[in-house]
Order: sequence, then structure tokens, then C-alpha cells
Amino acid sequence: MKIGIFDSGYGGLTIMERIRHRLPEYDYIYLGDNARSPYGTRSFEVVYHYTLQCVEQLFAMDCQLVILACNTASAKALRSIQQKDLPKIAPNRRVLGVIRPTVEQVGQLTESGYIGILATDGTIQSHSYPLEIAKLFPNLHVVGQACPMWVPLIENREHLKPGADYFVKEYMDALFTKEARIDTLILGCTHYPLLLQKIKEYAPEGVKIITQGEIVAESLADYLLRHPEQEEQCSKGGTITFYTTEWVEKFNSNASLFLNQSIEAHHITIE
Ligand code: DGL
Repeated sequence: MKIGIFDSGYGGLTIMERIRHRLPEYDYIYLGDNARSPYGTRSFEVVYHYTLQCVEQLFAMDCQLVILACNTASAKALRSIQQKDLPKIAPNRRVLGVIRPTVEQVGQLTESGYIGILATDGTIQSHSYPLEIAKLFPNLHVVGQACPMWVPLIENREHLKPGADYFVKEYMDALFTKEARIDTLILGCTHYPLLLQKIKEYAPEGVKIITQGEIVAESLADYLLRHPEQEEQCSKGGTITFYTTEWVEKFNSNASLFLNQSIEAHHITIE
């Protein structure tokens, strides 16, 4: 049995890379639903429906465990899949997200008690981050900012060019105008590590910026230690196979933006 890593497209590669670095012994399948991305602008129902289909596909490809390496899918689909679908479709398998492990970190980092969340429209509108933070750290204040132009900038390879500065500055200014006391910033979209340099440039000095790759990798390692019944099911051949619902050549070429290796993905249709 393998470990499935799912994203609407490319962003999950930033998570996958750190997971493989931390846990190289396992066999992985990466699935990017590029044909139907972006998810960030879609409704709750659509994101849930698409995510469930992709999870079912990964189960059909022998995944024991699926990581939703996408904040939008974690925000809008994870809970329903865990509570409603999993008991029916695969009671012995598990689906995990990226929001909870990220949120667990913020309590140790903030001094001012003000947390900023940069994410897709869908993730911000779901209120998943403030809700999760309130459960663990009820005294913290959370301020969100949707950054709808960032994913398209990255996917169109414009993110390192001077034009990208305009949109990075716009959303950073909007966030810090709402709340100047923010001292900890969560990059709540798996694409955003590619914009990290520019985000740092427009963040006030001293603000701590949380990216998710290492956090999710560490949390998965911990999960596997605590759940030997899951871990024992996972094969250890050190392989990874990539699938995309879109055009394979484009996926291979764009994936090189996110990974330091060339890959050869396979096409898969999900309907
Ligand atoms: N990678 C997704 C996330 O983390 C965003 C990309 C999309 O909008 O599909 O939210």
C-alpha cells in the first residue's frame, strides 16, 4: 500500500518534496487535479466533490493513507470526508490535511498574539484557520487575507518577475492595514512558498513566516509512529509515481518550478 499526496495541481509538490525528504523509504503516489484547478475560487460543494473523487481514485490505486496537500481541499472537504465518507468507503484507511499541523505551530511562535493568514479565497471564506486556531489557542487573534492573484502568477511563471511585486505588495499591505500587530504569518496555500522571497520583502521586519512543507512532513512522521496499524500497511520501496488529470507534458514542465528534479507524470481521467 502507498501514501497518496493530493493537490488541485502543483502546490502539493512543495509538501511532497519535504515529505519524501523526511520519509524517503515509503512508496508515494502524487495526484494533481490540474484539469479542474484552481480549487481556490470554487464553491464548498464543488471542492468537496472533486476532492472526494480524487481520494477515491487514490484508494483505488492502493493508497492506505492520503494527505490532502492543499489548503483549499483541507478547508472545504477534509472534515466531511473523514466523518461522512471514510466510514463507508474505506473504514481502515485515513485521510489527513495540512491545516491542523500548521495551526499547532503558531502558539509557540507568536508573541503579540496576532496571526495573519495568507490563502486562497476559498480557504479564507471557509474560516478553517480561525476555527482551528480558536480550538487550540483561544486567546490568539487571527486576520485573514485572500490572495487570488498569487496562484495564477506562479502557474504562469510570472512570480519572480517585477510585475509580481505589485500583487504581493497589494495583499501584504491589505493584511497589515487591517492589523499592524501581526507578528506571525501563515502561508496557507501550498503554492505560496514559491513567492517566499517577495513575501519577505513586503513583510514588516521581524514577522515570522510559516511555510507548511516541513511541518506537514514532521506531523506525518509523528502520525506514522503513533499509528503502527497504518504504518505497517505502507510499503517501503522508496518510489514515487506522478499522475495529473491534465496534459502530461505541461505538468512535467511546470513541476520543475516546484521540484529540483525532472519527472514523467502519467495522465489519469477523473469524472
Ligand atoms: N494549492 C492550493 C491550496 O493550498 C491552491 C491552489 C488552487 O487554488 O487550486 O490552497
